[in-house]
Amino acid sequence: MSSGTDKVFDKVTDPNDFTFNKEVVSVFDDMVSRSVPYYDEMQRMTAELAQDFAQDETNVYDIGCSTGTTLQLLDGAIENRNVTLIGLDNSEDMLAKAEQKLSAAGLKHPYDLKLGDAQKGMGLRNASVVTMLLTLQFIRPLYRERLVREIHEGMVENGCLILIEKLTSEDTLFNRLFIKHYYDYKRRRGYSNTEISMKREALENVLIPYRLEENFDLLKGAGFRHVEMFFRWYNFCGIVAVKSTEAEGRGA
Ligand SMILES: C[S@@+](CC[C@H](N)C(=O)[O-])C[C@H]1O[C@@H](n2cnc3c(N)ncnc32)[C@H](O)[C@@H]1O
Repeated sequence: MSSGTDKVFDKVTDPNDFTFNKEVVSVFDDMVSRSVPYYDEMQRMTAELAQDFAQDETNVYDIGCSTGTTLQLLDGAIENRNVTLIGLDNSEDMLAKAEQKLSAAGLKHPYDLKLGDAQKGMGLRNASVVTMLLTLQFIRPLYRERLVREIHEGMVENGCLILIEKLTSEDTLFNRLFIKHYYDYKRRRGYSNTEISMKREALENVLIPYRLEENFDLLKGAGFRHVEMFFRWYNFCGIVAVKSTEAEGRGA
């Protein structure tokens, strides 16, 4: 499978709902790095935070691992002993590409790539770090609460969940401005107006962003004790959530 330049939406057609099919997979790394502002920096920060929370003898999961970019960075950053990296995705084509990339890179930790639908339960266990970058937004809202609870339950004490999400805002003024600036960003990265509007239509029923507060409520409701935003660019954000069952100190 080759990697190419993203031209998926450069012709006007009747847009179907967006899927991570063979055509998308073949250009995915180009698509994601031109469509997501500060993609490389968010990946770097994710690996850095993962390093803070990874523990010996545990699993580190990347849900919606796509072509394995994050797994490769996690492998480089995490120094703990007996850590197994597990990538999960429901696209066979993505996992084939990930296998190609990871085996060529030669990871120091053992890894496993699993085909599965995160909406149906993943058998997640003994996790010290779970990353979910640009993926929760693709989970049907009906299943999000159950999924985040499953992650929390399958996590060890002081484990962390790292999310990158596209956001919406209740305030229509800012929502409009942030989306406008985002489309300007995509134009600067070489996408035409046609490509931008075709992709927007294709994603309409598939990518369902939550408000920042909704994401915080989701995480706290699932039991995560510490929840903080670590990155924000208009309508994109990074959130880190930590599981801790210890009673909180009252501070000095
Ligand atoms: C935008 S991509 C994620 C990008 C990737 N995490 C990165 O940082 O480059 C979303 C991924 O989630 C996967 N996905 C979407 N819905 C899923 C589901 N229900 N279960 C598992 N994977 C899913 C897609 O196949 C796709 O690879």
